[in-house]
Amino acid sequence: MSKPERPVSLDSILQHQGFGTRRACRVLVHQGRVAVDGVVIDDPDATFLTEGLNFSVDGEPWVARAQVYLVLHKPVEVEVSRKPQHHLSVHALLPGPYNERGVQAAGRLDTDTSGILVLSDDGMFVHALTSPKREVAKTYEVTLVHPDDGDLVHRLRSGVQLRDEDEPTVAHSVVQVAPNRLQLVLTEGKYHQVKRMIAAAGNRVAWLHRSAIGAFRLPADLPAGKWRELTPAERESLFAEPPAPRRG
Ligand code: URA
Repeated sequence: MSKPERPVSLDSILQHQGFGTRRACRVLVHQGRVAVDGVVIDDPDATFLTEGLNFSVDGEPWVARAQVYLVLHKPVEVEVSRKPQHHLSVHALLPGPYNERGVQAAGRLDTDTSGILVLSDDGMFVHALTSPKREVAKTYEVTLVHPDDGDLVHRLRSGVQLRDEDEPTVAHSVVQVAPNRLQLVLTEGKYHQVKRMIAAAGNRVAWLHRSAIGAFRLPADLPAGKWRELTPAERESLFAEPPAPRRG
């Protein structure tokens, strides 16, 4: 059984939520810039229960979380890296305090790939989502450069030989949704895996979008570039079987 939560001082809550050093957080509170449930608190030693605490800093509302779990709709031309080379980083799409507290992406998407990206500061959760042993299913919507020659799906299902791999790489499932569109589910996370598999099967990827992780689909009301918190049930569903394919 988990231990009951203990009240914690406001400066320490703010520090953990990514608002700077303990000293900087004490200053924020002393300056009257922090409110809890709409009431300005100027005592940094005042204590509160952290999880779900509604607070604001300079009028901006926040909900305190022991750990944070986010889904981001990654647009193209954004890099999944803290040190981007040529484009904006996905971290630039998140509020500063989340980056301060060490939120990291669970896996990568190429700069020209859009779709669902999960981020968290819970290292065990990130590890579980990305560990090959867990075989978490990732669903990709693939638009091909050339219409399928009739055998592509079969080749991807039976396995294609990638350079530097000992064994053929097999898709968990592949469904043809249109002459030049596939829905491909993979349970590994090899480098550029979709593009390399399609190339090894004799075609090329024109456009790539990750539509689901496990049974959790990218929410239709989450526009590209936007993020939101995942609910505990949504977190669980990331580890469940993928949704049935949607034929176009
Ligand atoms: N496979 C790729 O080739 N690119 C991605 O971004 C994800 C999977």
